Amino acid sequence: MSGRLLEITQLSKRFGGVTALDQFEMTVNRGEILGLIGPNGSGKTTSFNVVTGIYAPSQGKILFDGQDITGFTPQQVYKAGVARTFQRSRLCLPLSILDNIMIGNYGRLSKGLWFNLINRRAFQAEFEEGFDQAQALIRTFSASLADRMFEPVGSLPMIERRRIEICRALISRPKLLLLDEPSAGMTHDETKQLMDDILDVRSRIADLSVVIIEHEMGVIERITDRCIVLNYGRKICEGTYGQISTDPEVQQAYLGAE
Ligand SMILES: Nc1ncnc2c1ncn2[C@@H]1O[C@H](COP(=O)(O)OP(=O)(O)OP(=O)(O)O)[C@@H](O)[C@H]1O
Ligand SMILES: [Mg+2]
Repeated sequence: MSGRLLEITQLSKRFGGVTALDQFEMTVNRGEILGLIGPNGSGKTTSFNVVTGIYAPSQGKILFDGQDITGFTPQQVYKAGVARTFQRSRLCLPLSILDNIMIGNYGRLSKGLWFNLINRRAFQAEFEEGFDQAQALIRTFSASLADRMFEPVGSLPMIERRRIEICRALISRPKLLLLDEPSAGMTHDETKQLMDDILDVRSRIADLSVVIIEHEMGVIERITDRCIVLNYGRKICEGTYGQISTDPEVQQAYLGAE
């Protein structure tokens, strides 16, 4: 099987007169952590939205795990093995930790209301299995959270909410995890802890590929194997952090050099 998990070619997305992605190209290899960086409005989130089927591309092709997923619905992309988190935290705050994580299991569970009403035992067994999986997953991030599965997430600090969002994505057992600015709204120490978590997840789940959008260069330097830099919807540079951080075009576009 090819080492390439995701291959995006000539991908464009236009919103009226705004070209958010312009012939964008990106490859993600199996098992790597790829950093996606660029100035505000350069198209980073749009690339996630197009890959995950939230927006249909105006042009271009998306190959995932050997399958053409261009134009798939979000549900189809999720079932194919791509899970994500969002730039703004998207948890149901009044719901419990358990419920929020189980939402990520939706595609694999849920045989429907009538089936569950008639087959109470099967429903119970499925629920218990889901509970065990969710608890085991959250325990790898935080033992204390695993003991509070029925608490509403609204009372938790941002780092715990981000952990829960990552667990919600991971419970579907994706091959590709897309993280959109996971450190947004967190302190420096919290960011460091969360990045340790992400490195830990990658080391425990064989072949999991991660794409992370991040503004903090220290984070990018520490956790990525490779980076892609976007500017005005186009890829302007690609390479290790060492390579892209010394590239004059990147410095001008992103790092604020004269
Ligand atoms: N649904 C939409 N409708 C219209 N324009 C949009 C929409 N989504 C994104 N855009 C525009 O596309 C461009 C790229 O936006 P995008 O959110 O992808 O940038 P970004 O790189 O994620 O920025 P940031 O670092 O601020 O999160 C921007 O000009 C934005 O205003
Ligand atoms: Mg964004």
